[in-house]
Amino acid sequence: MNEQAEATRRTHTCGELRPHHVGAEVTLMGWVHKIRDLGGVIFVDIRDRHGLTQVVTRDDADLLEVAGRLRAEFVVAVSGPVERRSEETLNPKIDTGEVEVAVRRIAILSQARTPPFQVDEDTPVSEELRLRYRYLDLRRPRMRGNIGLRHRITMAVRNSLDAEGFWEIETPMLTKSTPEGARDYLVPSRLQAGQFYALPQSPQIFKQILMVGGMDRYFQIVKCFRDEDLRADRQPEFTQIDIEMSFVDEDAVFGAVERLMQAVFRQIGKEVDVPFPRLTYDDAMRRYGSDKPDLRFDMPVQNVSDAFRDGQFKVFRDIVAGGGSVNALVAPGAGRQARAQLDKLVDEAIELGAKGLVWVRQAPDGAIQSSILKAAGEEALTRVVELAAPGPDDLTLLAAGQGYEASVLLGQMRLRLAQRGGLVDESRTALSWVVDFPLMEWSATEQRLVSMHHPFTSPRPEDADRLEADPGAVRARAYDLVLNGNEIGGGSIRIHDAELQARIFRLLQISDEEARARFGFFLEALQYGTPPHGGIALGLDRIVALLAGEPSIRDVMAFPKTAGAVDLMSGSPSAVGRRQLRELHLDR
Ligand code: AMO
Repeated sequence: MNEQAEATRRTHTCGELRPHHVGAEVTLMGWVHKIRDLGGVIFVDIRDRHGLTQVVTRDDADLLEVAGRLRAEFVVAVSGPVERRSEETLNPKIDTGEVEVAVRRIAILSQARTPPFQVDEDTPVSEELRLRYRYLDLRRPRMRGNIGLRHRITMAVRNSLDAEGFWEIETPMLTKSTPEGARDYLVPSRLQAGQFYALPQSPQIFKQILMVGGMDRYFQIVKCFRDEDLRADRQPEFTQIDIEMSFVDEDAVFGAVERLMQAVFRQIGKEVDVPFPRLTYDDAMRRYGSDKPDLRFDMPVQNVSDAFRDGQFKVFRDIVAGGGSVNALVAPGAGRQARAQLDKLVDEAIELGAKGLVWVRQAPDGAIQSSILKAAGEEALTRVVELAAPGPDDLTLLAAGQGYEASVLLGQMRLRLAQRGGLVDESRTALSWVVDFPLMEWSATEQRLVSMHHPFTSPRPEDADRLEADPGAVRARAYDLVLNGNEIGGGSIRIHDAELQARIFRLLQISDEEARARFGFFLEALQYGTPPHGGIALGLDRIVALLAGEPSIRDVMAFPKTAGAVDLMSGSPSAVGRRQLRELHLDR
């Protein structure tokens, strides 16, 4: 009987059978999900990627004997006619819930050890166990759904870009270091003693060289490797949707990406409006205290420096006089809390690194209350209320500092208060472009200017003559794509002039010699006729996680690593033998 069943072919998947199949002879193959042995009748749910189907064994002693030996996660083949379920056993929760297969043949294709956790969604399982036995976790509906969504998004990306004339081109994995701000993963060379390849942090240089090579429009769905500290939205190897285009400006890149994102969102049945709003880095930092603002709600940070410019409150007056600002954040409906709660908010701000946080509110009779009422006086605080225009039940928070210091703090409070106050409409999709990033920023640790994006980013032409005199004030033709407060992509219009590129390296204190050693091939390529070009890379893992509603990108990757960059299933990284090290010239 077993051999016979094994010889049969699967006719349908476990998600396929419907009432119109009643009477058909079918063969299903899959994993044993659940067994109900009623003595004389055994119901088994068989599962595969497509769904669940109930099969029922009754009457036949031989068949009941085999069915009685089944255990969870055994792989079986069952054949028999499709029958309509009796009224009382209909299951509207599953697609195949109106039918069942009456088992005429059954074969155990493979047995399974007792799994360390039940393969269903109801049993909570630690992430460690899920990662250690990822193949079991992948059988659960959540991971199956996520991996399926990832596939559909990937295909939508390919189709969208293909339709716009992009070519998918592979770039090398064994290559040279690409500067994206993380550490490299290195691969020692056996044939060239003492030499190393670097795994790409991104295909940046190669995709630019493809433009020099006349490829015009390139994309690649590509693994990138970065040895950096890991978080929920970061993995040491992750996937980019990498894009580069010739003869374009920002508008052309944005247009292609906006149409791409529309195609991606259609995979979850959502239409998104284009073009996406654009805001400058400076606006984003001032209004939302973040270069990736969550625009599903407004709640902007406001400038109320005027209220303190000439007032009695010295701390704020001095900050304003020194070129800083006093900023306000109005939290809707948060004004009626007990004082102890307000004190907690202040503590929270201090934990976030603030020197202090001031609150202001109006009592039901309109009287101003504030943590600095005495020190600042009613006049200044009345002015704050005029400027920030809170509603009667709102709470106004004030912070002061230089540069973006105060808005960054209030931006963090903005996110927390909006979450707590239920002001975030989770069903909304807020996509936006943040543009005009600074080209460079000062790195205190390295004691030099570093690129904010990467050194191949073009300065804005009107700022280019300030490069040497005031490099910090030069804006870049760089942009980020932001989705609901998450950076999901970044890119720029590139430098296509070898001379300007060399100037940027000098500003970044990369010597001519070092530039030649690291990027000589690229600088040379730039001298052979380089089209103006630009592009972007989107984080595929982040996009899928956000669309799947998953808090971590680990849940949309088949085989992710832990925060310690370990693969718990395969046990990598791992030690290697001395012989292998010797071959690689790493040991004598
Ligand atoms: P960038 O470094 O901004 O740009 O990366 C682009 C996007 O890739 C995603 N991303 C990550 N996702 C998961 N884990 C990580 N460790 C990780 N690091 C980055 C983010 C990010 O927005 N070469 C440039 C692109 C360009 O200029 O065209 C680049 O790599 O979503």
